[in-house]
Amino acid sequence: MKKGIGIGLLGLGVVGSGVAQVLLQKADFLERQAGSPLSLKRVLVRHPGKRRSLKIAPALLTTRAEDILQDPAVDIVVEVIGGESPAREYIREALQRGKSVVTANKEVMAKYGPELLSLAGEKGVFLHFEASVGGGIPLIAPFQRDIRANDIRGIHAIINGTCNYILTRMAREGAEFAEALKSAQELGYAEADPTNDIEGIDASYKLAILASLAFQMVVRPEDVYREGISRLALRDFKFARELGYAIRLLAIAKRDGDSVEVRVHPVLLPEDYLLAKVDGVFNAVQVEGDLFGKLLFYGQGAGALPTASAVVTDILAIAQKLRCAAPDSSRVSFDQQLRASSPWPRSGRATICG
Ligand SMILES: NC(=O)c1ccc[n+]([C@@H]2O[C@H](COP(=O)([O-])OP(=O)(O)OC[C@H]3O[C@@H](n4cnc5c(N)ncnc54)[C@H](OP(=O)(O)O)[C@@H]3O)[C@@H](O)[C@H]2O)c1
Repeated sequence: MKKGIGIGLLGLGVVGSGVAQVLLQKADFLERQAGSPLSLKRVLVRHPGKRRSLKIAPALLTTRAEDILQDPAVDIVVEVIGGESPAREYIREALQRGKSVVTANKEVMAKYGPELLSLAGEKGVFLHFEASVGGGIPLIAPFQRDIRANDIRGIHAIINGTCNYILTRMAREGAEFAEALKSAQELGYAEADPTNDIEGIDASYKLAILASLAFQMVVRPEDVYREGISRLALRDFKFARELGYAIRLLAIAKRDGDSVEVRVHPVLLPEDYLLAKVDGVFNAVQVEGDLFGKLLFYGQGAGALPTASAVVTDILAIAQKLRCAAPDSSRVSFDQQLRASSPWPRSGRATICG
């Protein structure tokens, strides 16, 4: 058996830097966990000369994806570039070449997860994606393994920290939407182009992933009814408060017989609900199952180290499987009978949670 597991990192931005930092600074600790050394072989970037928060040997950097995808010393490819292309093509190629993959990419997993998972299965390698939903909160592994004895009845989730930060500021400080968005951008919580966050697109990708796992069916992002927060105004928060409600952008999946309803939109939540108390950039996912009743997962849904926690834990899980040549217990199979639907009309503002 070969000594050590070779890691190729695609991307050295917020998440990639966190992952590289953990791999380099916690090498001994991770070696004990994995049972063999994890060795960072190469890192793909666009701009090798860019100033970075992390000190990394320049020789590790490359702008040629093939230096990682075609390197026989790389066992696990970690994709933290983001976006659909070329991330999807790189993941496909890595799997085709018999490498396992860890990705934090919700867009690729929401749109192409089933085909990529099946390719990984065909090739006898592993595809893990814990960081794609909820950053540092363990969600994918619990859905794939820990709560599988349950019939999942529903998911109510706050899975976009940018929106939750904006809504919290509007409610708490009386900020108008534009002002709260600007402050989210200044703090690095929102992109220069915030469309994916504020229009609920990001949340719809994450909900598609969670619902697919929870109900073991293929839920596509386009199945999700979607309404963002950009049309909310300060007066909505005043009325909500007077009536004893908080406004949150919720991602909701509910099973109803042979179909599953999936939707993302602003919701009026009674102020004493746990989800109504989730403030700022935090994420929370409440799951209802026939055996455990209600479970709440809560924590940091983004950020370099919380997200690196999920990515590196995925690397460890794969490293252990590679060492033991274990079959993949986290493999997903989908129910072909179930249908996803979003039967809600476009309603305008927040909806009372039911
Ligand atoms: N940020 C978070 O807190 C967070 C949380 C959970 C999941 N995620 C997911 O993690 C992924 C990465 O997010 P991020 O925030 O780390 O992104 P980011 O800060 O924008 O970093 C992207 C990195 O990828 C590199 N890159 C981009 N396009 C490339 C290309 N075509 N070829 C080669 N390199 C390329 C960039 O290179 P340069 O540095 O040279 O420009 C940069 O290092 C995304 O899928 C995101 O949804 C992020």
